[in-house]
Amino acid sequence: MAATLVPLLSVIFSLFIQNSNALSANYYLQTCPQAESIITKAVRRAIINDKTAPAALLRMHFHDCFVTGCDGSVLLDSKGKKKAEKDGPPNISLHAYYVIDNAKRDLEKMCPGVVSCADILAVAARDAVALSGGPTWDVPKGRKDGRVSRANDSLQLPFPTFNISQLQQSFSQRGLSLDDLVALSGGHTLGFSHCSSFQNRIHKFSNVSDVDPSMNPSFAASLRQICPMHNKVKNAGANLDFSPTAFDNTYYKLLLKGKSLFSSDQALVATSRTKALVAKFATYEKDFFHAFAKSMIKMSSINGAGTEIRFNCRSLN
Ligand SMILES: *[C@@H]1O[C@H](CO)[C@@H](O)[C@H](O)[C@H]1NC(C)=O
Ligand SMILES: *[C@@H]1O[C@H](CO)[C@@H](O)[C@H](O)[C@H]1NC(C)=O
Ligand SMILES: *[C@@H]1O[C@H](CO)[C@@H](O)[C@H](O)[C@H]1NC(C)=O
Ligand SMILES: *[C@@H]1O[C@H](CO)[C@@H](O)[C@H](O)[C@H]1NC(C)=O
Repeated sequence: MAATLVPLLSVIFSLFIQNSNALSANYYLQTCPQAESIITKAVRRAIINDKTAPAALLRMHFHDCFVTGCDGSVLLDSKGKKKAEKDGPPNISLHAYYVIDNAKRDLEKMCPGVVSCADILAVAARDAVALSGGPTWDVPKGRKDGRVSRANDSLQLPFPTFNISQLQQSFSQRGLSLDDLVALSGGHTLGFSHCSSFQNRIHKFSNVSDVDPSMNPSFAASLRQICPMHNKVKNAGANLDFSPTAFDNTYYKLLLKGKSLFSSDQALVATSRTKALVAKFATYEKDFFHAFAKSMIKMSSINGAGTEIRFNCRSLN
């Protein structure tokens, strides 16, 4: 009985996933064939003057998908007292909304009311990676834009202080595996963090050690200089790896040396299974690129409750 039931259930389950989430790489082939090239142009233009745009776009897409699915909810502006997701607790790390606005404006001229903001963000995140020297992939499209964005919901994002079991739970709730976790964490090859996200590891870590013992001591000392206990410099912080605008595997090499910023990064070497994958990605960049592209497609297919194609990515129709 059980032997026949299990395969049957898994067939039903996979049908459900496909039906509820019918994305396709050719989605705009008839309705807006230039869609992707218009988005890519907007990302390219942004990068010329703003080296931080790729990290911001990648982060924004991750944030969008992890909170209520990939439905463009992170792009909506707050309205009066109703604070939107983008103004929720980790808001200081999000910017570069202008890139999405520019792409949307150009798309509305060419094919009005056709391309969703959630799709623009998914394509822009892919371009951000590819234009920084990382892998490229076909982005499945056909997402709809959601009508709900609550500041509160940003608390559903994994915290930088999470340990491996908390990370695993957060990812598995969204259909993502431990392997996806290790690959997607590689997105931290791009970008910068404010002191607040790793302050807990370099001051008063525990009653026996001021600094997280899993952190390389000289690395910790350099961070303590940048981020003193009573930090007064408003935007003080550190790059996530030594090459913050190049999409490469440096992040994994640093992890193996205890030179990562977040507890949630260092947690990836806390279990043998995830550590083996970190070591593989640190050695073979190609394997990382392949896994990253695969996991991005999976993450960017997390179903949202979208119902419309917004005309302006910042406001509901
Ligand atoms: C960021 O979030 C905090 C806490 O929710 C809020 O007080 C602050 O006004 C927000 N900052 C911006 C720039 O929206
Ligand atoms: C989220 O918002 C709801 C109501 O809008 C409120 O009851 C709840 O306390 C909030 N939760 C957090 C963690 O802020
Ligand atoms: C992770 O943190 C949670 C909550 O603090 C705790 O219950 C759990 O035991 C921790 N897991 C590991 C592997 O440290
Ligand atoms: C340090 O904290 C642990 C619990 O976190 C406690 O068991 C231990 O007694 C404390 N040691 C000292 C020296 O305070």
